[in-house]
Amino acid sequence: MNKVEKFRPEIHFSPEKHWINDPNGLVFYKGEYHLFYQYHPQSTVWGPMHWGHAISKDLVTWEEKPIALYPDELGAIFSGSAVVDWNNTSGLQTGEEKVLVAIFTHHGEDNEKQSIAYSNDCGRTWVKYSGNPVIVNPGLKDFRDPKVFWHEGTSQWIMSLACGDHIRFYGSPNLLEWKHLSSFGETYGTHDGVWECPDLLHLQVEGEEEKKWVLIVSLNPGGPNGGSAIQYFTGEFDGRTFVTDQKESDVKWADWGRDFYAAVTWSGVEEPTWVGWMSNWQYANQTPTDEFRGAMSIPRTLSLIKREAEYVLIQRPIELKGENVLERANECLEEIKVDVPSGAYTFEMNLENAPSFTIELGGLKLAFDKRAKEFRIDRTNSGFIDFSEHFASVDVMPLEKVEDMTIIADRTSIEVFINGGSAVMTETFYPVNAISEMTIRSGMGEPINAKQIKVKRISL
Ligand code: FRU
Repeated sequence: MNKVEKFRPEIHFSPEKHWINDPNGLVFYKGEYHLFYQYHPQSTVWGPMHWGHAISKDLVTWEEKPIALYPDELGAIFSGSAVVDWNNTSGLQTGEEKVLVAIFTHHGEDNEKQSIAYSNDCGRTWVKYSGNPVIVNPGLKDFRDPKVFWHEGTSQWIMSLACGDHIRFYGSPNLLEWKHLSSFGETYGTHDGVWECPDLLHLQVEGEEEKKWVLIVSLNPGGPNGGSAIQYFTGEFDGRTFVTDQKESDVKWADWGRDFYAAVTWSGVEEPTWVGWMSNWQYANQTPTDEFRGAMSIPRTLSLIKREAEYVLIQRPIELKGENVLERANECLEEIKVDVPSGAYTFEMNLENAPSFTIELGGLKLAFDKRAKEFRIDRTNSGFIDFSEHFASVDVMPLEKVEDMTIIADRTSIEVFINGGSAVMTETFYPVNAISEMTIRSGMGEPINAKQIKVKRISL
């Protein structure tokens, strides 16, 4: 197996060749999930951005399509979103098929502005609107990543836009003419980096009647463990203004790992589902793959739970098909060894009264430290690490207890979902040799009471 294949994810989207970053234009239409992405077709490092394109029917197997959008005289094609214009509000529909409309940032040397493109053949080919840009730059250096949805209550399209240190909301009846409605965030959350890639979601609170609005904001740098990460704000949105129920100083992280960035949701699906870019701007251009560089996370469904007076984001990986290769129940041991497949698999464990413990996966080390109330991922010995001084790290997430844990493991990544998906960490790593065993070891000499352990080999 050569190095390229060794580091090619099995169940995570990666391009056949060249560089990718953010997911873009996520839209579902007629049984097809569209994934566009920031793409540099000439190289494996970031450069003039295009929108690459892939289509899936199950969110796991992807078919790469021709490039959807090329740079033009207004600039490179930065991040953005896409919608199905069901009622042809834009007047851009030409045939029987509903028109798909992409809303993106044109990044020119002089400035950033918002433009649109449309497709009348189910996303296969795209035409840029002749009236671009649809929102001109108001004098802001950072003015990008439009995410659009239809707001039922006020019967209009709403766009969230990242403006450096705040999010602006715009409204439109037809996707062509936009009006600035309000702004949020200058004094809220963390500002240790630039705000990027927003998304505004209406999420169900589990076990309650209520729904809450959640504003997603990517931040780079300034993440909890360095570099890129995603914060979120819970609150209310009335079609005009977003008001958070958080204090100005509160910071909520969607994922505490180093490699989950620029995530946004699919438009046109019933269950809110998002996907993120599995990398970090601190080292994204240096990771040790050859022909391609960059991969997406596993898509995850989203909801909220109410914990005391606080709303907490819940992420669950979409269901992955496969075969259980190991199932064990009621183990009460200080050390548990589990064989794991060499490709992609899920590992699930339910624990009772978990003591501190570590999990070793080759040289990658995960640890729950009950005393410090922390969960850690240590990749300082995880394989190839010296391609960037920022890569080797011990990353920390506050955590009181571990009741259940699901790990989605692929050749170069793990995504860890703890306590029903309320505590999540995503990390990439580049092992020298394939890993065939996982060792779970108690940290305090107390046995680990595993009610259930399951390993499922994921089949495509
Ligand atoms: C986020 C980002 C976006 C921008 C794009 C450029 O990773 O910086 O703000 O649109 O990447 O590729």
